This record gives sequence, structure tokens and C-alpha cells, in this order.
Amino acid sequence: MENFTFHSPTKIIFGKDTEQQVGTEAKRHATKVLLHYGGGSIKRSGLYQRVVESLHTADVDFVELGGVQPNPRLSLVRQGIQLCRDEGVDFILAVGGGSVIDSGKAIALGVPYDGDVWDFFEGKAEPATSLPVGVILTIPAAGSESSDSCVITNEDGWLKRGYSSQENRPVFAIMNPVLTFTLPPYQTASGAADIMAHVMERYFTNTPHVDYTDRLCEATLKTIIKHVPMVLLEPENYDARAEIMWASTLAHNNLLSTGRIGDWASHQIEHELSGIYDVAHGAGLAVVFPAWMKYVYRHNIDRFVQFAVRVWNVEQNFFEPEKTVLEGIRRMEEFFQSIGLPVTLEGLGIPDDRLEEMAAKCRKSPDGTVGNFVKLTSEDVLNILKLAK
Ligand code: NZQ
Ligand code: ZN
Repeated sequence: MENFTFHSPTKIIFGKDTEQQVGTEAKRHATKVLLHYGGGSIKRSGLYQRVVESLHTADVDFVELGGVQPNPRLSLVRQGIQLCRDEGVDFILAVGGGSVIDSGKAIALGVPYDGDVWDFFEGKAEPATSLPVGVILTIPAAGSESSDSCVITNEDGWLKRGYSSQENRPVFAIMNPVLTFTLPPYQTASGAADIMAHVMERYFTNTPHVDYTDRLCEATLKTIIKHVPMVLLEPENYDARAEIMWASTLAHNNLLSTGRIGDWASHQIEHELSGIYDVAHGAGLAVVFPAWMKYVYRHNIDRFVQFAVRVWNVEQNFFEPEKTVLEGIRRMEEFFQSIGLPVTLEGLGIPDDRLEEMAAKCRKSPDGTVGNFVKLTSEDVLNILKLAK
């Protein structure tokens, strides 16, 4: 096991009606709040009205900025930074999913910074400070409600880039599973694939002796596999929604990374798909992850056998372990399809004429490769994209 520091300071307030506490919670941190949200789901569900009432009751002053698009854009972030400076905002309240939260995190980084906020995403600067961010989560998926990352798309070149820092951890996250009842099935399913991908990125490691976190990863995956079909049949099943929502946070607050080095190649490859084609991030991962697995499994057959047996209940073939591995991957693809997700680029509506460009653009580590489990070159990334066709 590797040495580690685990610091996940986000206060989680979980359960029915918890959004009513937002005014009191925001009051602890804020003089003036930016209420940040997306394309309107919070207005249609009535959540917006409840948030505004709670802020008024707690006597919290606020301005608002809606309109965050999925795969949040840099231009709106810049607009938000200017608004916060003009209005003297000192706290960001993000009400929505990963896109709204990430847009809010980027605004929070940019307000006290003299330069352009994109500098952080290009690795040109580190923030000295940022505004605190609070969250009301409406979709279990990205894990941004307590993660240290923030992912933004720059329309200039359609570059989707992440930036990770402890500054990005929200101070609180309000999580009421009832708020997820209104999710369309495709968003529920895409969210599930993203949650599973966050676990699998960590699971496929070269670090030996990580049995405890292996088991935590497997438990998290099995929780999603069990409960997502339940909520697709019965969207207002509170207990199943609650299981998914809590699993989504723990999948990405780094608990499951403790003592191990994760991979993250599939995420970097997927960011090219959603950056250029604006597809749902989780749906992109349902396409990339199986292809990545087929490309790299020979690097550590035993780990893939363990995954197939423990997560997908494949009966172990001791004589031909590759058969066990491939059956595990097949069952994963079958699961994604059963919840309504594509597992090919074609199914996702992505043509094959820009694969070279995506492989070349895909964000590399300083050594020029992508991922840690197997260090992939641009050519490897291209081969994975071809396998995903
Ligand atoms: O914009 P509104 O109208 O709110 O609609 C949203 C949006 O269209 C809708 N929605 C959300 N909650 C709803 C709802 N519709 C009905 N009822 C509800 N309760 O769902 C759509 C998708 O929302 P979005 O926020 O884009 O989804 P998600 O949470 O999956 O976030 C995806 C973004 O997060 C990034 C992704 O790359 C992508 O940009 N990620 C962020 C990470 C992080 N910060 O740690 C890690 C992830 O790996 C990921 O990269
Ligand atoms: Zn993700």
C-alpha cells in the first residue's frame, strides 16, 4: 500500500427535506451568495423556489446566474467571475449536477485571481485561494459535490480539461435523494456509468496489497449494479435512489483511492468525446471503458479475473483465465446496454473521422503518456478508440 493523506472536508447533509437547511448553512460562510444553476430543471421541480425561500428566511443576500450547460463552458464561468466581482459575492451556491458544481468551482477559483481562470486548467498557475462553494446535488454522477476536481470546456478549440486541487472541495453538500426522482432515465443511467467508472479507474491499479480498498470498490460497484435497474423501473423508489446517491459521493471523494494509484486513462479519453461532441460524460465512459479493458487486460490478468468473479459473478475458469476476463467485460457491456446506454461510438452517434485528432489531443502526463495502469501512447489511444467503434 502507498502512503496517503486523506482529507475530505465537505460536510454532507443527507436525506429528505435537507434543502431547507441551505439558508442556515450558507449564512455560516457568506455575506453575499451567487446562486448558480443549470438549464431549468430546478425551476420545473420547485427546488429553486424552496432554495430562494430558505435564503430569504436566513436573511442571506444573493444574486443569481443560471444557464449552465452540460459539459460546462468557460464563457459562462468568465461571466460568473465578472458578476461576482461586480456584486461583491463571497460564496458560490451551486444547485444542480456536476456541470453546475464545476462551473461554480471554476468561478470560485477565478474571482480572487488576477489572471485568466483557464491558466489553472492549462497548468500555468496554482490558486492562492478561492471562494467557498456549497452544493445542493440533483444528480448522482460526477461526484463533484465532494471531489477535488473541476472540469470545464473551453469553446476555443473545444478543449475539455480538468483541474484538481484541495481548493475545489465544497464546504457543504446537501443531498436529498427525493430531488433525483425527476431525472430522465438516460441521465440516471449515464450517472451510473460515471459512478462505476470512478470506481474502476481506482480499481485497476499496479499497487499491490490494497485488499481493503479493493473490497470497498467492489461493494460500491455492486451497489450501483443492484439499484440502478430498480430506479429505472420505479423512479420514486427513495431507498434505491438513496443508495445510489451516497455511493456516487464515496466513489469519488478519494476514499477509494487511499493507498493506491488509479489509472484515469478512460476519463482522459472520454473528455475528448464529450469535449468535441457534447455527449453525456457517463454515456461516453460506457463506450470507452470496455474498449480500454479489452486493450489492456493482459497487463494483469489476475486483477481482471478478480473483477469478473467478484463484481460480475463470473464462474472462474482456472485453465483459461482470459475467458473469465472476457466474460466479465461482456457482462459489464450487457449491463450498460440493459440500462439504456450505448457501448460503441456509433451507438453514441460519434463518427469515426476524427479519431486521430482525439488521440493526439487527449491530455497526456508530463512523460507524454495517458493513464497509469498501462501507460498509453497516442497510438494506443487511437487503437482503443478504434476498438470502441
Ligand atoms: O441543466 P438542468 O436543467 O439542471 O438539467 C440537467 C442536465 O441537462 C439534468 N438534471 C440534473 N438534475 C436533474 C436533471 N433533470 C431532471 N431532474 C434532476 N434532478 O441532467 C443533465 C445533466 O446534468 P450534468 O450536471 O451535466 O450531469 P453530471 O452530474 O453527470 O455532470 C457531468 C459533468 O461533470 C463532469 C463531466 O465531465 C461533465 O462535464 N465531471 C466532473 C467531475 C468532478 N468535478 O469531480 C468528475 C467526473 O469524472 C466528470 O468528469
Ligand atoms: Zn467521471
